[in-house]
Amino acid sequence: MNLVQFLCKFDITKRILTRLFHPKTFDKGRWTLNKLQLKNPVGLAAGFDKNAIYLQSLGVLGFGFVEIGTVTPLPQNGSPQPRLFRLQKDKALINRMGFNNDGVEAITERLKNWKKKNEKQNSHLIIGGNIGKNKETPNDLAWKDYEICFLKLHPWVDYFVVNVSSPNTPGLRELQGKEFLQHLLSHLKKLNEQQTLLKPIFLKIAPDLTFEQLDSIIELAQEIKLDGLVVANTTIARESLKTSADQIQKIGLGGLSGLPLKNKNTELVSYIFKKANGQIPIIASGGIFNGTDAKEKMEAGASVIQVWTGFIYEGPSIVKNICATIK
Ligand SMILES: Cc1cc2nc3c(=O)[nH]c(=O)nc-3n(C[C@H](O)[C@H](O)[C@H](O)COP(=O)(O)O)c2cc1C
Repeated sequence: MNLVQFLCKFDITKRILTRLFHPKTFDKGRWTLNKLQLKNPVGLAAGFDKNAIYLQSLGVLGFGFVEIGTVTPLPQNGSPQPRLFRLQKDKALINRMGFNNDGVEAITERLKNWKKKNEKQNSHLIIGGNIGKNKETPNDLAWKDYEICFLKLHPWVDYFVVNVSSPNTPGLRELQGKEFLQHLLSHLKKLNEQQTLLKPIFLKIAPDLTFEQLDSIIELAQEIKLDGLVVANTTIARESLKTSADQIQKIGLGGLSGLPLKNKNTELVSYIFKKANGQIPIIASGGIFNGTDAKEKMEAGASVIQVWTGFIYEGPSIVKNICATIK
């Protein structure tokens, strides 16, 4: 990414990269997420550009939208290293990054500068703000952390994702209970209405929820007219892996992403789509490597998709390749 970033500094190399990696263009209005117009349906999932450093490069690599974050109010270092592991045999990753990020102040400043520069260049990249809480913030005060990030980022992002589903912040996933979510999401919706422009609010869920928990989230999403769900985050499960049990044990705690997550998350997308009669827009995430995987998620009911682990294994052509197989 640093190399791409460097090459983007010069007009000539930037143009070469754009030509190499830019996906086909779709008809205007072909891809929308709520009212947002996307260039294409391939997004970069949260956690890759946590600090909004690589937006220009990611635009050049063709992404239709980029989700920055997870952003927390205060900067934090995250978990001690090593905290990110490749499971090559499984085309997977295990991570326990723990929301390492520069904090909302620094990231807002960066987005402000990016927007200013970008307006001049007139190349609009849709940016999502994925928000969370600091590790030290107790769960009963968590809503305040989400509020701080929401208000600070509001002028500078196109949509929001409320992240209550990362496995690497102790206690975070307990926030997926209906009562807390109802309070938090209604509160954010109210704040949203007080701003000059409404920004869609999505909720990102874990793939490890019970069907009971899932049903209550679907119910809530319909009750409060949530703009959509991101389905889903990494899993704490370690089922049917090719990597040896011994090695998995050595790696330890963390969220598993990539190929082993693919079917599980597709089933979730399909379940939610059917249960909600297609009324809840879905951003699908989990194990997407190519056009076939992307189509599978869309056939299950996703409006658009995001990649993360696929980007690591497939490289910079992933957006172009996926778009080539989508009509
Ligand atoms: C190293 C790493 C860091 C991540 N950090 C975040 C994060 O900060 N917030 C979040 O909502 N998801 C985070 N994720 C989850 C991804 O956004 C994505 O939902 C998940 O990896 C499943 O997609 P994939 O199989 O394409 O990787 C992270 C994933 C990885 C591998």
